[in-house]
This record gives sequence, structure tokens and C-alpha cells, in this order.
Amino acid sequence: MANGYEIRDHILQVRNVSLKLGGNQILRNLSFEIRDIHRDERTTGQIVGLLGPSGIGKTQLFRILAGLGKPDSGEVLVGSPGKKVERGMVGVVAQQYPLFEHRTVWSNLMVAAARSGRTEADSEKRGHDLLERFKLLDRKNFYPAQLSGGQRQRVAIAQQIMCSEQFLLMDEPFSGLDVVALDAVQELINEVTHANTLNSTIVVSHDIVAVCEIADQVVLLGRDVDETGRVVPGAKVMATYDLAERGLAWRRGIASDPEFLRVVEEIRGRFPLL
Ligand SMILES: Nc1ncnc2c1ncn2[C@@H]1O[C@H](COP(=O)(O)OP(=O)(O)OP(=O)(O)O)[C@@H](O)[C@H]1O
Ligand SMILES: [Mg+2]
Repeated sequence: MANGYEIRDHILQVRNVSLKLGGNQILRNLSFEIRDIHRDERTTGQIVGLLGPSGIGKTQLFRILAGLGKPDSGEVLVGSPGKKVERGMVGVVAQQYPLFEHRTVWSNLMVAAARSGRTEADSEKRGHDLLERFKLLDRKNFYPAQLSGGQRQRVAIAQQIMCSEQFLLMDEPFSGLDVVALDAVQELINEVTHANTLNSTIVVSHDIVAVCEIADQVVLLGRDVDETGRVVPGAKVMATYDLAERGLAWRRGIASDPEFLRVVEEIRGRFPLL
């Protein structure tokens, strides 16, 4: 077991995914995979960051990973042996945080819990814990329209955590949060993901530091440039950063590590060229 961990079965395989919209190539032969990371001394899920600049195609890829949209070619397989992804196999926190507007915060959580098959007592305990942690207990009986943007976001994240089994996909979970809320969301992603070795969370974002702080693997999306300097349409994987292998995963206070800062600077330097 090199580096104190071992890579096991496939959890997610994204194979040669391509997508065109309105005649534009959005994704081009995009491939990456997530494998089960196993550490002897503790339960370790997988947190993968999908990074790329605005407009590159992250949300479109997110839809395909969640089974909400079909690629023109290629496939997404979940688990081992891999099953083609379908709507509902993956918990989804979308960029606009959709909530049931006619239900209260509490009711939004309980509807999600009912879908997961949890017992009522278990659902209520979990719901209470999540609201407490997200400082939303006093908003329990509010309707979504009565919440701030950041509060809505935390309810939407809590809702998915209530019902998702093994996979959680989050689109820009860090946008619009203050530092305290950002900390809380990062800590929650850590806790939920590392509750089971087969759990995986994919965080889609353009926030390089926030993603690198919690990810064990980062996938960088971008576009090629041809010999004449022209951008080739369609996002593909430009690089993957194995933060676990570099000793930059599963540690608190990683943000002040010089090697961490070097990786962040490297990614930041590549962003304008993507
Ligand atoms: N229906 C559509 N028809 C044509 N092009 C589309 C359509 N929907 C999205 N696009 C284009 O696809 C590209 C990728 O959009 P996407 O929403 O995936 O970007 P993103 O990486 O998530 O950006 P952001 O970081 O701003 O959320 C954009 O350039 C967008 O203009
Ligand atoms: Mg997006």
C-alpha cells in the first residue's frame, strides 16, 4: 500500500463523452474515472473536483453525469461492474438550488428523506442535525421565498444529503457563501463523503482553492489550441491532479502547505488559457 492508501474498483467511468448544442461542440471525447480509494486506518470516500472556467461546459457535463441529459456519444457508467447512469441514481445539487416553493424548509427535507427510504425517526434526527449544523433551525418553518440566497443553497445541499445514497453531484456549491458558510459546506461534504468508502462526491466549480482544499482528485476541463493558435471547440480533460498521491488530501489546514499553494498557482496559471 503505497502512500498509505490503495486504489480499488471503479466507482464512475466517463468514457469519450461528446455533446453538441445548437450546432456548437460543447464536450469533446471527454473521459475520466473515479476509483474507490481504500485506507486501512479509516473510512475514505472520494471527493473529485471538476474545475474549469465559466462557460466551458461544466453544467452540461454535470447533467450528463447525473443522467439528466444524454451525450451524443460516449457513456457514463456507475459502480462496478458499471451500469449506465440513469436519472435518480445520483444525488444532485443544481446550480440554481431548486426547492419546493410551496413547502417549508422542514417539509423540503422530509420529502427528500421519504425518497431515500429512511425511517421517520431517522429522517427527523438527520433533518434536525443538518439544520442545526447549517444554522437554519430558526428557519425550519419558513418557505423558500423567505430565505436568503445562501440559506436556500444550504437547504438544497441538506436536501440532497437527506436522500442521496452513494453519489452526490454538486454544481457550484461554494458560490455566494461567506467564509463561515463555506467552511460549513466544505466540512459537511467531507463528513458525508467519508461516511462510507464507496461514497463519492463530485464538486463542479470554478473556485480553485475551495475545491482543492477538499478534493483528493481534481479534473481540469479546457479546450485544445491547434497549430494555428485557434481554439478547438469542445471541452475535454486537460489534466488530472492526484492530490492524494501528492500528499495533499485528507488534511486540515492544507491551504497553507507550500506544495498545495504551488498546485493552486499552477491551476490558476492554466485557467486563462483554457
Ligand atoms: N441550449 C444551448 N444551446 C447552445 N449552446 C448552449 C446551450 N446551453 C448551453 N450552451 C453553451 O454551452 C456552454 C457550456 O455551458 P455550461 O452551462 O455547461 O457552462 P459552465 O462551465 O457550467 O459555466 P459556469 O461556470 O458559468 O456555470 C456555454 O458556452 C453555453 O453558451
Ligand atoms: Mg455552470
